[in-house]
Amino acid sequence: MRIDVVSLFPDFVAQCAGFGVVGRAHERGLLSVHGWNPRDHAEGNYRRVDDRPFGGGPGMVMMIEPLRACLGAAGSADPRPARTVYLSPQGRPLTQAKVRELAALDRLVLLCGRYEGVDERLIEAEVDEEISIGDYVLSGGELAAAVVVDAVARLLDGVLNDADSAAQDSFEAGLLDCPHYTKPVEHVFGAVPPVLLSGNHAEIARWRRMQALGRTWSRRPDLIDLATLSKQDRALLER
Ligand code: ADE
Repeated sequence: MRIDVVSLFPDFVAQCAGFGVVGRAHERGLLSVHGWNPRDHAEGNYRRVDDRPFGGGPGMVMMIEPLRACLGAAGSADPRPARTVYLSPQGRPLTQAKVRELAALDRLVLLCGRYEGVDERLIEAEVDEEISIGDYVLSGGELAAAVVVDAVARLLDGVLNDADSAAQDSFEAGLLDCPHYTKPVEHVFGAVPPVLLSGNHAEIARWRRMQALGRTWSRRPDLIDLATLSKQDRALLER
């Protein structure tokens, strides 16, 4: 997969992509991340990329032309068609299902805004979808783009080892993850739940499912869709 990031700080996201699992995706040739700076496509001595908003108000708005030219250059760097995503608090919330959808693409172009945002006409003409990583405002889209790159990279075939399999993740099953424990068995902070030491895999699976259901129920009830819970799940919740 190839991801192009259009940003006033093009190295930021590319550097974030150098560590851990995303770095491994890079090393294995499964992912490449490229940064593009709209300032390189701006005109005049000052290479201006922003201007005051029409109608007044605080802040600056990113201008159409430098972004359009930069998106054009990023888009034509590879013949495969790309999906263009603009990161902004006005976007639809990022979910694991959306991450999975993006991870199935060959190419992604991530557009990061700064200042008050981007001229709306550029968004309407060049952007396929707008995504938010949460109901808070960052000073720019770069951290959001890094989040997308990380979440997508770990789903690419061949990136995760068995030990960190994506199938066990929170949200893959629509639930929060169960708690995890490792050595030592006894500690002043407490003991490992005995069922995990029992060797009874069916019991362990049931315990984990129950923990996942319980946590989701108490911390994120909005994620629980009673209609899709199995009979066994409902019995576990009613215990
Ligand atoms: N840019 C600024 N805030 C953001 C957010 N919450 N999600 C995505 N992009 C952003």
